[in-house]
Amino acid sequence: MKRTTLLAACILALIHGGAFAHGEETHGKKHQDAQMDKFHKMMPMYAQVQAKINGALERKDAATVEAESEKILTTIPDLKKSTPHKNLKKIGTFREIADAFSAEVSATAALAKKGDIAGARTAFKDAGERCNECHAKFRD
Ligand code: HEC
Repeated sequence: MKRTTLLAACILALIHGGAFAHGEETHGKKHQDAQMDKFHKMMPMYAQVQAKINGALERKDAATVEAESEKILTTIPDLKKSTPHKNLKKIGTFREIADAFSAEVSATAALAKKGDIAGARTAFKDAGERCNECHAKFRD
């Protein structure tokens, strides 16, 4: 399966209650770890939240920007406990990126709360670049 097809399947599975065995079957890897399972659910959620935040920024809907940013923020402790498959020896860098990402998403929420949509847009653009930075190093 192509990654895009796989991703669509993952998102659909999540929407439909997550009964789908994501993990072993789709990745052909063993995830003994409950933490890894959480991590695999977190990422498609991030993609959905990112789309919602970008839409809300367009509409200047500060309340949605703030609420959706909070959804990411509640997952940060789990993100920092997760371990990627690739480049595992650079786990320190993984956590640094997670911290920077967290700070940028916090800033997005705080600026939206103040009604500063332009500021929130800049902060969330930085957070989006952090997704890419982490994927470039740690996603296989
Ligand atoms: C601290 C690192 C890190 C950050 C920050 C991060 N990701 Fe990921 N992401 C990963 C890794 C690692 C994978 C690959 C998972 C694996 O090992 O199979 C991944 C996979 C994904 C996937 C594919 C789903 C899957 O299970 O394979 C999507 C979609 C995704 N990320 C979206 C995002 C979005 C959107 C953001 C930012 C809003 C983001 N990620 C931020 C590390 C990160």
